[in-house]
Amino acid sequence: MKIIRAEKAGFCFGVKRALDMAERTVQSSSTASLGPLIHNKQVVEKMERQGVRVVGEVKETQAGDTLIIRSHGVPPDIYDEAQRCQVKVVDATCPFVQKAQQLAAESSQSSQVVVVGDRQHPEVQGILGWAGGSAIAIETLEEAVELPFYEKLSVLAQTTQPAANFHGIVDELKKHTHELKVHNTICNATEERQTVARELAGNVEVMIVVGGKNSANTRKLAGICSERTRTYLIETADELENNWFTGVETVGLTAGASTPDWIIEEVYKKMSTMENNETHEMMNMEDWAE
Ligand code: F3S
Repeated sequence: MKIIRAEKAGFCFGVKRALDMAERTVQSSSTASLGPLIHNKQVVEKMERQGVRVVGEVKETQAGDTLIIRSHGVPPDIYDEAQRCQVKVVDATCPFVQKAQQLAAESSQSSQVVVVGDRQHPEVQGILGWAGGSAIAIETLEEAVELPFYEKLSVLAQTTQPAANFHGIVDELKKHTHELKVHNTICNATEERQTVARELAGNVEVMIVVGGKNSANTRKLAGICSERTRTYLIETADELENNWFTGVETVGLTAGASTPDWIIEEVYKKMSTMENNETHEMMNMEDWAE
């Protein structure tokens, strides 16, 4: 059985950066993160063992503590509250999210801001906060159709938005204003991983997707793969079952953006010890196609 690992899988740049910052911080001060740093139970537990506790609000910390802002970012009032509580902030907001926050703040000075994304998601709530409270979040084309007419509109995207949804909404918004500024703030890390996984799934008999079962991007990745081949979503190597691979010659392996390398490695190793396995380390998809 050949095991082919997706070329792009696991942590994106922003999540890796946030975890590195947390690891460095915990060595020197009492550290809390505002919400779990990532949607991965194993990583959150590991960070807790290292001393990073998870809090839901700034007031759960004490003066002198260090508070890590995760990659999703937060509205500006959180920084003010931390300062009032004498809590030091380590800001691990992903630079791509920060860019969207700045654009929202600037655009809100002269136009109505629309953010395309999940309005319940902390990243979107953070961006809305930077726009000063007047911004609107919409998720679907139907919601865009319902919007009234505005003299000037600026539209931004949650970084993980599917491009097709964003562009469809942008086309609709053109009918709702005299002047539309489009800020495409989609991060390509998600789409890149989805494209690579889709391609790989089309070339194997079974796909293994590793990641938190409560992680939206991992579930999405598994959904994309399952359209092409038999797919299993697992959180750890322990969940692998021998019978999934009976009579199978090629298996693909990918992982959600919140899955650390050490968990992917454990899964890979366990799969490699299953009967008659032949492993292909990080095979380039172009080589595979040849
Ligand atoms: Fe940043 Fe993109 Fe990851 S916005 S947190 S690098 S998905």
